[in-house]
Amino acid sequence: MSFFNIDGQQIEFKQGQTIMQAAQDAGVYIPHLCFHPDFKAHGSCRVCIVQIKGLYRTACTTPVVESMEVININEEVQQHRLQLLEMLFIEGNHVCPSCEKSGSCTLQSVAEYCGLLSPSLTFRYPDKKVDASHADYLLDFNRCILCELCVRASKEVDKKSVFAITGRGLDARLMVNSTDGKLVNSTFDKLDRAASICPVGVILPKHQGFKTPIGQRKFDIKEINKREQD
Ligand code: SF4
Ligand code: FES
Repeated sequence: MSFFNIDGQQIEFKQGQTIMQAAQDAGVYIPHLCFHPDFKAHGSCRVCIVQIKGLYRTACTTPVVESMEVININEEVQQHRLQLLEMLFIEGNHVCPSCEKSGSCTLQSVAEYCGLLSPSLTFRYPDKKVDASHADYLLDFNRCILCELCVRASKEVDKKSVFAITGRGLDARLMVNSTDGKLVNSTFDKLDRAASICPVGVILPKHQGFKTPIGQRKFDIKEINKREQD
């Protein structure tokens, strides 16, 4: 058997596993946004940052080695995560109280877990659009955190590539692959894996607003650090 440790806790791991995979198997929560166990790690959000010998590493892309000592929770790591989360909130338009995804939103729950209160930076209020062209689904680009889970799901599972990220840095944005960029003219279908993968409130089903009452939603029932990723 092989072991390493996270915050002093001894964890067993299998050869080839990343820190995130081994931690999840052991029931240790490392905050993350772009990682999903069904897909190859992307390493872009950097919320899963941990310290190893004083250096920052992303837990979702770093392989475990025997006797590795990982720090998941300390003041520096927490501050790092808070800064990243704060940037995500100010770069989009996240109006949590009126969002259909509130209570089921991974960004909201990770921020809550990490202790983000009110961002100290100035909100950018970008002018982003809503695409309501499709009969079954709505796209609210205001909330996209560019995790590329929909891109990966559409490409790898649905074999369609309905979604893509275009641009770089602050100009990066989600786009729909269709002649006019509208979802209705793409090959998107409500049964696609991409239709249900979004961790925030971008890809939303129509005809069922606030179906689950506040207080009974995913992270209301079980906090993010206590549940398996689904
Ligand atoms: Fe991620 Fe959702 Fe944006 Fe797709 S639409 S990149 S799943 S946040
Ligand atoms: Fe590891 Fe996003 S979860 S970089």
